[in-house]
Amino acid sequence: MVQATPFLLVLFLALGAHSLPAKKCSLTGRWVNDLGSNMTITAVNENGEFSGSYHTAVTATSNEIKVSPLQGSHKRGPNQRGQPTFGFTVNWSFSDSITVFTGQCFVDDDGKEILRTMWLLRSRVENIKSDWKATRVGPNVFTRL
Ligand code: BTN
Repeated sequence: MVQATPFLLVLFLALGAHSLPAKKCSLTGRWVNDLGSNMTITAVNENGEFSGSYHTAVTATSNEIKVSPLQGSHKRGPNQRGQPTFGFTVNWSFSDSITVFTGQCFVDDDGKEILRTMWLLRSRVENIKSDWKATRVGPNVFTRL
């Protein structure tokens, strides 16, 4: 009986693990990305709409960086399997530019939440002939602060 106990415990844990609810990824909170930018997401409402603030570590301008507002939304429902897709816009308060991010909130193999995103940064240009150089694109990975 003494020898059977650890075996039964392992069997119980192995079978039981499947019925445990998987950890969900939540956007709310403070995040830092691979560039060192900080983002705070507050007030996610029942429709999945959220707002927050963004403190970028870098800028394409020579302006002084200021904390800027963000607004976005994430998908909801069982199809998302606790790892929702989302999008948000940062309306930079210190430049003429706008950035849109799209991404997905994942729980990695260690149970850590991570946001994998792609962004488009639209800068203002003087005229339509310069439109071709007005948009930058790139990836950002966010982890919790
Ligand atoms: C600007 O330079 O006009 C506004 C700041 C842009 C910062 C960009 S947005 C995409 C990338 N990710 C960041 O965290 N910062 C840069």
